[in-house]
Amino acid sequence: MDTLVITGGKPLKGDITISGAKNSALPILCAGLLSAQPILLRNVPHLADIRTLSKILQGTGCKVTREITDRDDVVTVQGDDIHTKEAAYELVKTMRASILVLGPLLARFGKAKVSLPGGCAIGQRPVDQHIKGLQALGAEITVDEGYIYAVAPKGRLQGASVRTDMITVTGTENLLMAATLAVGQTILENAAREPEVTDLANLLVSMGAKITGIGSDRLVIQGVDALHGASHAVMPDRIEAGTFLCAVAATGGEITLHNSDAASMGATLDKLRECGLTITVDGTNIHAKMDVMPTAVSFQTREYPSFATDMQAQVMAVNVVAAGVATISEHIFENRFMHVQELCRLGADIKIDGHTAVVRGVKQLKGAPVMATDLRASASLVIAGLVAQGKTTVERIYHLDRGYDRMEEKLRAVGADIVRVKA
Ligand code: EPZ
Repeated sequence: MDTLVITGGKPLKGDITISGAKNSALPILCAGLLSAQPILLRNVPHLADIRTLSKILQGTGCKVTREITDRDDVVTVQGDDIHTKEAAYELVKTMRASILVLGPLLARFGKAKVSLPGGCAIGQRPVDQHIKGLQALGAEITVDEGYIYAVAPKGRLQGASVRTDMITVTGTENLLMAATLAVGQTILENAAREPEVTDLANLLVSMGAKITGIGSDRLVIQGVDALHGASHAVMPDRIEAGTFLCAVAATGGEITLHNSDAASMGATLDKLRECGLTITVDGTNIHAKMDVMPTAVSFQTREYPSFATDMQAQVMAVNVVAAGVATISEHIFENRFMHVQELCRLGADIKIDGHTAVVRGVKQLKGAPVMATDLRASASLVIAGLVAQGKTTVERIYHLDRGYDRMEEKLRAVGADIVRVKA
């Protein structure tokens, strides 16, 4: 397993280009199952999770190809020869987002067999709302020996009004994709409003889907008989961008993010300004300067447009070296403080009480070996390593590679002393 070796203490200075959003690209790739015609996707990030999902789609017979030239980088997905309506455990177990093939396969072909995704480090992460919603659309679903078996008894799903018990991002995405080919109207109440859901909805509309209420918590879909091909550019990754802003907030310095989307980052930008980061937005560029000691910032993670759970660990890493005491409450996942113990190995002062962590800023962190446990926790450890005195080694960074496109290269380009040591 690869390791990152970081020598801290260097301020960040320079330019970083943000990649396409992982959590938008994943459902968008699955949308390719909904049409026999090709969808051409640009700004798809180069990530392990994208490669995994591509393999799962190819396993059904769906064509997924990527053509990279010096001027272009296009992923083509074409579901014109799908022979297997299944997603096998071996790959699904490595990436929970594989559940996103369930809705499209069921909607297009009237049947699907998808492995139940396992839990993961941050929580049990059930998919009961995905199942409940598809049943409301007429699917007959059984779960047996770790697999979800779904059938549309009338050959096609039937539009219905669905309200999920809680706001679920991929649940909304699965049901939205399924509804585009259902017979009649579907109303999704309590829908997730994350920008990635909106990005998916915009692609579906360009494929011929009829969706209104995009961006709201009430999506209305008029089912159509078929969807056609389209071209689409995946939105910028707001979590990657937020992660680099946390890095400069912790180390000090001045960076400019390119190809970013500040409009999708409101809560993060507000919180980092409160922390002392000077942020100016110029179109798709975000300029950030940190020339003061960070001030501790408290927050609670909630559904969009509130503060994102995917930014919790990264802002905690800034609080670790900030002036004052911060209270962080995690309301989305039941076990998303795995980074705390690792940060404490670097000298952080953090106490956990249930869903809340109290962080007391310390003057100096000292480098040490730490272990990544999940995607955003690993980003938090990298940020801490960038400010710790001496050498920090972050192990098991396959977690990082799932969601960050060449992070160490982007950080090195702005002055960080960080190298990947191949296993
Ligand atoms: C998506 O996960 C993201 N992943 C996560 O990003 C993100 O943290 C999460 O949304 C919240 O924003 C992708 O988009 C691929 P949820 P998802 O369904 O859809 C409970 C990252 O780091 N729930 O919105 O799986 C669930 O347990 C990843 O990039 C049910 O109980 O999250 C959680 O407590 C991590 N039953 C809450 O709802 C269900 O059927 C929100 O989960 C579905 C969800």
